[in-house]
Amino acid sequence: MTRSYRFPVGFVWGAATSAYQIEGSPLADGAGPSIWQRFAHTPGMMANGDHGDVACDHYRRYKDDVQLMRALGLQSYRFSIAWARVLPEGTGRVNQKGLDFYSRLVDELLANGIEPNATLFHWDLPAALDDRGGWLNRDVAHWFAEYAQVMFDALDDRVKRWSTINEPWVVTDGGYLHGALAPGHRSKYEAPIVAHNLMRASGAAIQVYRAMGRHQIGVVFNIEPKYPASQSRADVAAARRAHAYMNEQFANPALLGSYPPELKEIFGDAWPDFPAEDFQLTKQPVDFVGINYYTRSVVKHDDDGYPCHATRVRQANATHTETDWEVYEQGLVDTLMWFKDRYGDLPLYITENGAAFYDPPVAEGNVVEDPLRIAYLRKHLRALHQCIEAGVNLKGYYAWSLLDNLEWSLGFAKRFGLYHVDYASLKRTPKASAKFYAKVIETNGEALGS
Ligand code: BGC
Repeated sequence: MTRSYRFPVGFVWGAATSAYQIEGSPLADGAGPSIWQRFAHTPGMMANGDHGDVACDHYRRYKDDVQLMRALGLQSYRFSIAWARVLPEGTGRVNQKGLDFYSRLVDELLANGIEPNATLFHWDLPAALDDRGGWLNRDVAHWFAEYAQVMFDALDDRVKRWSTINEPWVVTDGGYLHGALAPGHRSKYEAPIVAHNLMRASGAAIQVYRAMGRHQIGVVFNIEPKYPASQSRADVAAARRAHAYMNEQFANPALLGSYPPELKEIFGDAWPDFPAEDFQLTKQPVDFVGINYYTRSVVKHDDDGYPCHATRVRQANATHTETDWEVYEQGLVDTLMWFKDRYGDLPLYITENGAAFYDPPVAEGNVVEDPLRIAYLRKHLRALHQCIEAGVNLKGYYAWSLLDNLEWSLGFAKRFGLYHVDYASLKRTPKASAKFYAKVIETNGEALGS
């Protein structure tokens, strides 16, 4: 008998993007600069000198893009709000025109039968706040709560699902430890402070929401399971540290109100003694957790591995994406099972999952053939079906990404989209994966069987 991949009734099928990666016009209509605007215009920071000045021009083409979503049959669209469009200085004065853009987008989605799912922070901190210390300043929790309140006031009548922060680990590790992402700092002393303030800010926004919100709010973590390269004591300990650093450093304060002990071992004298009362703020009740899953890593002990004394061991016989991430769908199963065991039976969404692969050039009018992306999606969606059967409380799935976009400092060359974007003409062309995903949505998963 062939297996059925039908998903539960009410399972939400979506796709995701983020503001700086797609919008373009970053300073239009009175918006303030963000740290990404500055970073992208600092020589040497971005592959090919790419930047988000135009990106996919979504700021002006959002109506057309909603039609692309509709063609896919999306039930929900996850986007992020550029804080500095709404509050150009990060706090204080509201820029009505910036707010209006998101209000129009939400209306357009609803008019097309698509549920908006809004993320308050996807990495583009207002530059004016960075000038005041940004995520290093404890006041950032209040700044973020103020911004969150402005957004809830404006959109909570229509937006039913909110997330506070997208991937705090990437902000911390990329922005403050290794410096590959904005604001480009490299400090072991700053990174834990930033991580902590991100989770305080998330908690502060959730508190505001509890006082005034009518729907649901959660937080989004990127979880990458860590497997030891061997069963040696050193490799097992390395995997445990890498897991504590990347996965538990954020989920624990948010959901358990504490940090895993490995962090002190990893950071040594750079690990601060955080005030105990901070954990009342970080641990706020969430309505759901969003998990972004792309890959796993196999790690071994390495004295030079920074900051965890661990290094990734590339798996020679596996398929890797253009970002050199191993395709490993069992990691998604392991992640969700671990999450359920560790943090309880919270409603979960996969808020991002997808792959960058090389897409061949196409003749006008043709679909872009992307069999590797289809295989990636099929494998991961089948894995999710298995998780649901095993009792994981999974409510929905958002493919990353709706369309090719600015892959941060890697520039436009890494394409994750279901729609191909020609950056010269800005024309969108469906990839075969878009057709595949549309079929999956239409059949509520049944098409995964073929
Ligand atoms: C981020 C996206 C990014 C994607 C692929 C996630 O880390 O939330 O902004 O484009 O992964 O790297």
